[in-house]
Amino acid sequence: MEKIVILTGAGISAESGLGTFRDEGGLWAQHRIEDVATPEGFARNPDLVHAFYNARRVQAAAARPNAAHEALARLQRDWPGEVVIVTQNVDGLHEAADTARVIHMHGTLAGALCAVCDHRWQSPPEMQTGQPCPACGAAAGRPDVVWFGEMPYFMDEIFDHLDNTDLFAAIGTSGQVYPAAGFVQEARRAGAATVEINLDPSEGASMFDQALTGPATSTVPAWVESLLTKAR
Ligand code: APR
Repeated sequence: MEKIVILTGAGISAESGLGTFRDEGGLWAQHRIEDVATPEGFARNPDLVHAFYNARRVQAAAARPNAAHEALARLQRDWPGEVVIVTQNVDGLHEAADTARVIHMHGTLAGALCAVCDHRWQSPPEMQTGQPCPACGAAAGRPDVVWFGEMPYFMDEIFDHLDNTDLFAAIGTSGQVYPAAGFVQEARRAGAATVEINLDPSEGASMFDQALTGPATSTVPAWVESLLTKAR
């Protein structure tokens, strides 16, 4: 039975109340990327970076999954083939919707990382500058989130999935940040059908065979229902 690979972005969590990055008034309109989402920014002013992620961590912990997250969990449960969910999001809303396996290519707000020994642990709700590493003791704790200029996680595994999938869907992402923005080309090269599900057509919309536009809480459940009806 068909394999499906799904990439999600900030748009899938927008209706759960979490800000996106590039929409009107989004996170990158409120903060400079170079100040809060780069290793250089962290080295320059760790307090500012911790404050940015602490606010997002507290907000994400209070957010609930929406009908789009729930629909993807349903697809993963009921689809007869393999469903792989890759997310650029660092919130835990896919997991909160009981999605079994989520590949977080940009890390998670729930994770802490030691900048000295690479040890990972569960982040406290608010992380401070000089957060001691439980393994090596260095005062070098940072959010386990992939910053600009750093290599996203699980790339080999993700490309293996893209090279072997029958269907690729991108949901709630503006298609402006690589390598995620290039996944659709990789899937096409492998012969997969491709669909973009987004509030508005993204920059990369022309690379997709199909486009479903509208809010994710209505487009994603409808898309999942149509897939499962065909599979019956
Ligand atoms: N339903 C569906 N799509 C939506 C909704 C919604 N309710 N609201 C917004 N969108 C769409 C927007 O139209 C936009 O195309 O979601 C997309 C969000 O785009 P971005 O804000 O650029 O977020 P994303 O694509 O996830 O960013 C990718 O960039 O800054 C880095 O690391 C950050 O993971 C992030 C990456």
